[in-house]
Amino acid sequence: MKTRVQGFLCAGVAACVAAGCCSDKGVDVKKSGAVEPSVVVKPFGKTKDGQLVNHYTLTGAGGVVMDVIDYGGKVVRLYTPDRSGAKTDITLGFNEVAGYETQDKYFGSLIGRYGNRIANGKFTLDGATYTLPTNNAPGSIPCSLHGGDKGFDAYVWHSEPLSEGKNVGIKFNMTSPDGDQGYPGKLDITVRYWLTPENVWRIEYEAVTDKATPVNMTQHLYFNFKGEAEGTILDHELTLFADRMTPVDKGLIPTGALVPVKGTPFDFTTPWLIGARIDADNEQLRFGGGYDHNWVLNSQSGKLAPAAALYEKTTGRYLEVWTTEPAIQFYCGNFLTDKVPGKRGKNLCHRGGLALETQHSPDSPNQPGFPSTILRPGAVYKTVTEYRFGVR
Ligand code: GAL
Repeated sequence: MKTRVQGFLCAGVAACVAAGCCSDKGVDVKKSGAVEPSVVVKPFGKTKDGQLVNHYTLTGAGGVVMDVIDYGGKVVRLYTPDRSGAKTDITLGFNEVAGYETQDKYFGSLIGRYGNRIANGKFTLDGATYTLPTNNAPGSIPCSLHGGDKGFDAYVWHSEPLSEGKNVGIKFNMTSPDGDQGYPGKLDITVRYWLTPENVWRIEYEAVTDKATPVNMTQHLYFNFKGEAEGTILDHELTLFADRMTPVDKGLIPTGALVPVKGTPFDFTTPWLIGARIDADNEQLRFGGGYDHNWVLNSQSGKLAPAAALYEKTTGRYLEVWTTEPAIQFYCGNFLTDKVPGKRGKNLCHRGGLALETQHSPDSPNQPGFPSTILRPGAVYKTVTEYRFGVR
């Protein structure tokens, strides 16, 4: 494995582009043979408040290439091979930090302290009531979304390259101070991204606190297996390993019920095209403007287990999502519009990407019937999610 600072030498995208073997202009060029795993680091500009941002290119031994910045741990580009070996960037992102600051901060991002929604931006824990920023209001009902006004997506994390055998990665650290966005407790967080020779992107989340606090971290990568800004994801085929989901009110807050999906447009227990039932006459689909819901995974063991599978037939790209988490949010990009510029000068579109966010269910701090998200001093928050890329 090679590591280069300001590197240009090894099999990262910068070197690839220089050598003409793949391109971030969207030209798909075949690449064959084993790849030497590498991590290349270079600058990625500054945030609007002047913080320097690093850009890492991880090249996995299996050929997947990932560009990641330490601002929010965001995956900017993700190249995976299609059925014929051609690599395409299959995620949404921006070429500059400003894109994330002005267009959409969640693209490809780590999310915390609490991923998803908390009703009214309030919860009670051990007798005390905490108030969070209400930065979102579906159906005009305010809630706190993805950690508040400044979630973990908007931090520049401390970052360093990792390597272990044929695996390459990045380690991210940060401390969220006591009272950050209204949450109690100083939270020390470590996240590791790994890229393996089997084309697995493994994410390991860890956190410890000095006061009881809710923690629910996730990753908000968008997928479009046909390529960034190449149309909608309605033709992708999805499987969810979940017999139940958590219906929501029009503020997208769970009612508390766990409802069987059988016989509804939410049944993805066998593969279904995302577009097949999205326009069905269904109140839940109306509330979400499409799919924007949380499924209760069949595995509640806390052990790594299948959560989702995604397939696109023209490219053959196939993904399995495995997680230790008990739930998954499937969001099909209902809020995306054609006003958002893509990385290649082509605008995105409504439903131009989908996210598969492993997590605990939304609003858990206010939902006694849901598995707890409360981390207490002395305990370690530890979750793992794997995105396993392949073709069929
Ligand atoms: C998702 C959420 C959507 C939307 C999106 C960010 O996690 O389910 O409702 O808020 O994040 O645009």
